[in-house]
Amino acid sequence: MTNPSKTPGAPTGARVADFELPEDLKALQATVRAFAERELAPIAAGLDAEARFPREAVARAAGLGLLRVTVPREHGGSELGNLASCVLLEELNAVCPSTGVTVSVHNSLACSPLAKWGNDEQKRRYFPRLITGEWLGAYCLSEAGAGSDVAALRCEAKRAGDAWVLNGPKLWITTGSEASLFIVFARTSPDRNKGISAFLVERGWPGVGVGKKERKLGIRASPTVEILLDNVQVPAANLLGQEGQGFAIALDTLDGGRLGIASQSLGIARACHDLIRDHLETIRDDKGRSSGGSQAAQYQLADLAADLDAARFLTWRAAVLRDRGVRCSKEAAMAKLAASRLCNRAARSAVAILGPAGASGAAERFLRDARITEIYEGATDIQRLVVARGVLGG
Ligand code: CAA
Repeated sequence: MTNPSKTPGAPTGARVADFELPEDLKALQATVRAFAERELAPIAAGLDAEARFPREAVARAAGLGLLRVTVPREHGGSELGNLASCVLLEELNAVCPSTGVTVSVHNSLACSPLAKWGNDEQKRRYFPRLITGEWLGAYCLSEAGAGSDVAALRCEAKRAGDAWVLNGPKLWITTGSEASLFIVFARTSPDRNKGISAFLVERGWPGVGVGKKERKLGIRASPTVEILLDNVQVPAANLLGQEGQGFAIALDTLDGGRLGIASQSLGIARACHDLIRDHLETIRDDKGRSSGGSQAAQYQLADLAADLDAARFLTWRAAVLRDRGVRCSKEAAMAKLAASRLCNRAARSAVAILGPAGASGAAERFLRDARITEIYEGATDIQRLVVARGVLGG
């Protein structure tokens, strides 16, 4: 029997890429969209105005299982993986990017490296509290002199018997003041890359302190702080992975983290696209008929719609590769590069097209929230560097 929808000439049984989400992820997407509308939409503007951490909303997100998607089943996780994480993060970020980045950091920068590099004992100790949100995770890599150049970090870890003694400040730590478990990268020998190790550090240990809190342009409800480590005794059992493996752990983890920020960018871009669409749909001509606004505005909306789909496919492709265990540094960097630039353009367009309403409403908040997506987890030029190295090396 012939298939009338089949392209003439296409080989029978041809394998095709499937651009549809599987049914379980469609259900997750619908659940998180409803959650974001119900729980986050009413509070997002207030959280931003008061720079107030969304503690209760994050607890409810944990109740929905959103903090366990990158955790193995044997440790209480749902093990849904990176694609699921991207899907749920787009939904959270389309409403509240401060909540979105909190969940992204917890899933991709704390739970993921523990799942991938942690030993059984470490997983048994920390996952039960991380999956319920009782403990939030944070990632302590950056320092004043080591932002883009990770390997320049100077925080030191010296071996003393059965412990490591950590000293040095860490800067720009997302969720730092709210987290209970830190993944800390410190120097264990002078070798630039191979002299870095990763540690699991508890907030409650003597010598762990929270320093300066940044006053920020956007994602103001997500606290960004300095974490101070002053003679912190870390048990040798809390070394994550092997001694000297920290640089590889940091960069591998960031491949996943960048998918989280790409998804944050998709959420912001989609929200701005929708604000423009809804606004243009209200515009009427002098006979009262719906006109859809000026052609110039419609062209901007069309470009955003096309670029949003393109950036989403880049992001989901990289997530699928990572879920298959394939290194996706180039693909994750492409996704973050495209999506973060797009959300900044989308937010600027929304403010411009909505006029006075855009300058003071949700579009204004998204414009401020969008800026950081081109800065954290590797600035735009770092993504270009990673893509260029991948293209030239590949
Ligand atoms: N996975 C595993 N290994 C990796 C890797 C990856 N993704 N990327 C690199 N490596 C390995 C390399 O294979 C290489 O190994 P060998 O020495 O055995 O050959 C080694 O690491 C060194 O790699 P590079 O030569 O590429 O290292 P580099 O010093 O040139 O640095 C860089 C590369 C891309 C510039 C990197 O430093 C980088 O990504 N910088 C940006 C840092 C960043 O994103 N910071 C974000 C902070 S966290 C944050 O922002 C959280 C938040 O607030 C939300």
